[in-house]
Amino acid sequence: MRVLVTGATGFIGAHLGMILAKRHDVLGVACTSQHLPDFPVSRTDLTEPDASRKLLQSFPPDIVIHCAAMSRVMECEAHPVKAEEINVHAPRELALQAAARGARLLFFSSDMVFSGERGYYTEQSPPSPQNVYGWTKLRAEAAVLEANAQNIVVRLNLVVGKGRGFGTSFTERILDEINRRGKASLFTDQFRSPIHVRSVVLAATLLTERDISGILHLGGSQRLSRAELGRALCRAAGIEEVKIEEVSYLSHPQASLLPRDTSFGVGRREMEMPELEVRPVETELAADFAKERVLL
Ligand SMILES: NC(=O)c1ccc[n+]([C@@H]2O[C@H](COP(=O)([O-])OP(=O)(O)OC[C@H]3O[C@@H](n4cnc5c(N)ncnc54)[C@H](OP(=O)(O)O)[C@@H]3O)[C@@H](O)[C@H]2O)c1
Repeated sequence: MRVLVTGATGFIGAHLGMILAKRHDVLGVACTSQHLPDFPVSRTDLTEPDASRKLLQSFPPDIVIHCAAMSRVMECEAHPVKAEEINVHAPRELALQAAARGARLLFFSSDMVFSGERGYYTEQSPPSPQNVYGWTKLRAEAAVLEANAQNIVVRLNLVVGKGRGFGTSFTERILDEINRRGKASLFTDQFRSPIHVRSVVLAATLLTERDISGILHLGGSQRLSRAELGRALCRAAGIEEVKIEEVSYLSHPQASLLPRDTSFGVGRREMEMPELEVRPVETELAADFAKERVLL
């Protein structure tokens, strides 16, 4: 199978590209990163006019996995026009070009399409974004499914795990903060359904081979506050849990942009991919650090 993976220099795209390249003909897409992963990569700015058409002409794929994005909430708030270009126009163009060639597209959206007032959101729950990032993701979802109803929109919850030297995750940001400040301040009252990047890669691999379309929620089975997740990370990494300082998300200067509870229901994921084993994040994180200890 020929697979185009955009965002190949990002946290999730690098993981996905490296695994898929073992079994498929993969072309990754990078934009500004100098350091490139160890599989074929095209350097393309997807916001440039005609970029998607040229890319798919030179590498006609069976499926496109679109991981490229402006993925940080505060960066999108600061640069809303650029966020719209990267997060909405680029996936729309890519989806139209893929559809014109009979290729499906898997688009990664986000739990940030929800207001966070309720939690345990399902695919049927009405979205209501609280920030620019969430709005761009919601508009892109519509554009991607309008281009081809066979496309799949995977709404990811918070993805944890060690990076492969590309992008950064919650895991690395928290460990970095503990290294710099001796502690990390994490919210006790903001909840997500964190999932490990290995589970995301497994799910995406299954989805490329399945006839599944429309919106699918992909999160872990546990609803955790950021502080609980931080403590789980500390235990997994062999760091004292006291390094986590508990704070309220209401203490954040832009708290109104942060949804309180964007945890997911897991019904469709379990129904469509019953063989996908999503282990608790602490178990997966412990495996990350056990590997590191073995390597040392
Ligand atoms: N990580 C999470 O916890 C999480 C949660 C929910 C949803 N998601 C979604 O999952 C997807 C992947 O997230 P991630 O964490 O892997 O993102 P990331 O680490 O921030 O990576 C972003 C990628 O997008 C590429 N990119 C940015 N602008 C581009 C442009 N104009 N043209 C081409 N490529 C461009 C970057 O390339 P260069 O670095 O080469 O410029 C980079 O490879 C995103 O859609 C994100 O919104 C992630």
